[in-house]
Amino acid sequence: MSELEQRIESGDWTIGVIGLGYVGLPLAVAATKAGIGAIGYDIDVEYVDRLRRGFSSIEDVTDEDLQAASTAGFRLTHDAADLSDADMLVVCVPSPLGAHREPDMSYIRSAADTVTKVITPQTLVSLESTTYPGTTHDIMIPAVTAAGLELDHDVWVAFSPERVSPGDVMKTADIPKVVGGVTPDSTRIAAKAYDQLVSSVHPVSDAAIAEMAKLLENTYRAVNIALANEMAQMAHELDVDIWEVIDAAATKPFGFQAFYPGPGVGGHCIPLDPQFLAWRAREKRFAPRFIDLAEQVNLHMPTYTANRIGEALNDRGLSVRGARILGLGIAYKPNIADDRESASIEVLRILDGRGAHLEVLDPVVGDEGVTAAGFVPATPGSRYDVAVVLTDHDVLDLADIAKQADLVFDARAAYRKRAIDADNVVVM
Ligand SMILES: NC(=O)c1ccc[n+]([C@@H]2O[C@H](COP(=O)([O-])OP(=O)(O)OC[C@H]3O[C@@H](n4cnc5c(N)ncnc54)[C@H](O)[C@@H]3O)[C@@H](O)[C@H]2O)c1
Repeated sequence: MSELEQRIESGDWTIGVIGLGYVGLPLAVAATKAGIGAIGYDIDVEYVDRLRRGFSSIEDVTDEDLQAASTAGFRLTHDAADLSDADMLVVCVPSPLGAHREPDMSYIRSAADTVTKVITPQTLVSLESTTYPGTTHDIMIPAVTAAGLELDHDVWVAFSPERVSPGDVMKTADIPKVVGGVTPDSTRIAAKAYDQLVSSVHPVSDAAIAEMAKLLENTYRAVNIALANEMAQMAHELDVDIWEVIDAAATKPFGFQAFYPGPGVGGHCIPLDPQFLAWRAREKRFAPRFIDLAEQVNLHMPTYTANRIGEALNDRGLSVRGARILGLGIAYKPNIADDRESASIEVLRILDGRGAHLEVLDPVVGDEGVTAAGFVPATPGSRYDVAVVLTDHDVLDLADIAKQADLVFDARAAYRKRAIDADNVVVM
């Protein structure tokens, strides 16, 4: 048995996390909670300093969690050299799309360069950033061999997708983890390591399986949300209530999973991940039709939502131009402060472009974040022609909002979900 495996089995080992965002920070904290040493490295110096002072901006890690982890020995650093003490290096850096919706691999490549510089013999490397099938073979193997290490002898390499959904009840340690190594030994050792970090591990035969499994999961969501979005548009034309239709279909005990319409998809995953797969497929001259169609439908939803708001105003003799509109929620989903790729922001930008007098309230993102996104924060006590519910944070007082506006346009069926009776609500 390798020295590394023995250390992992003894429980006396250290994980080094590269990139301390929504994925990396909860993982490092989960490791500390499991009694495993953790070193957290991020290139953002100011951010690391804030974390060191005990302030977390990641919803799934409270300040108390962070402080408890620090007390238990969690080391935060912006000096990559500190990572050389780690037995396992986990890469959790961003993997966005570029200007032409092609994978932007610059963060993963830069983290791979860091791995080359800091890795020592008897180390496991795991990539967790979402990416196209083949990345771990193409980028991480060369990164470790460039350090003069031999695969399966003194270094092992795997991919293990992160499935955490920020703000949801299930946290990193509770979610089953798919683990695929670039060699059978890499799979086995990575599975052994993750077994100590999370409640259950599902080993697969290769890193590419794990890479593609993640993309299948999120493509499945993107495609089904697109189906719900198209159904909603169809139902509107047919004058049928889509929300009651979905509730009815969801009573089927098998073969149906409910997905809901909305102003579009947002966040760091659902709008982006399918494009990694599509890009890779096109490289192989395969045209991914489902992904393209889902993207077309979902990308159109902000415009559709803005058009429906325009119609609702028109029915009351008003136009978007000049209407006093209160936009509710800019986060991409309820109860979190993340507004990356948010469809709510797209809707508000369209309304703004059409001449609305727009004010925005997002109690979770806060007025500073609202201003940073380019909007005017709502003035307390104002009246509006229409309040538009785009992200239904639990803290929004919907009953009160219905009193502040002549009309409410509810793109999330939030009033219905919370059984709030108000006679001025139009549901998308
Ligand atoms: N956010 C989610 O819900 C989620 C869920 C599953 C998977 N993912 C995937 O996980 C990966 C990370 O996403 P995230 O949401 O945690 O990103 P994030 O933007 O929240 O955090 C990434 C962190 O990495 C740091 N960083 C960037 N380049 C670095 C480098 N070269 N070295 C060290 N640190 C570096 C950044 O400063 C930042 O703090 C992405 O591939 C994403 O697709 C995200």
